[in-house]
Amino acid sequence: MDQEVEAAALIPRPGLTQARTVLVVDDDELVLAALIHDIGDELAPYNHAEFAAAIIRPYVRAEVSWIVEQHGLFQNYYYVHHLGGNRHGRDRFKGHQWYAACAAFCERWDQVSFDPDYPVRPLEAFEPLVRSILSRPAHDPRYVSGPVA
Ligand SMILES: [Fe+2]
Repeated sequence: MDQEVEAAALIPRPGLTQARTVLVVDDDELVLAALIHDIGDELAPYNHAEFAAAIIRPYVRAEVSWIVEQHGLFQNYYYVHHLGGNRHGRDRFKGHQWYAACAAFCERWDQVSFDPDYPVRPLEAFEPLVRSILSRPAHDPRYVSGPVA
């Protein structure tokens, strides 16, 4: 990740907790996750997180695809109680090895993206990163020998 994105990620934001220190900032796979985690919002409105996770699963480490797959549940923490839902649904994963990473992803990258004043870069700036990851051979063993029938 270049310094500009890293700097933007490190800008102090009101309400952020120590979770910001959980994620490694220089992590291209998490940047890809941040870019496409909502790609299925319109095609799969009831399970868009699973949809996005399925797309990146062959190319990223298991932690990153898990974060994407669970981000919908974890993101509920920020709004679902306003709609009568339980914002603590993510608690079912307390103790999970990637709980803190997913909470941090939502806090640092997903939730702040709703702030219109948060510094952003054009999507084109990320094209090399996206092409680099999605054009490399799948490293998840389930996909190395070809699609499963
Ligand atoms: Fe989402």
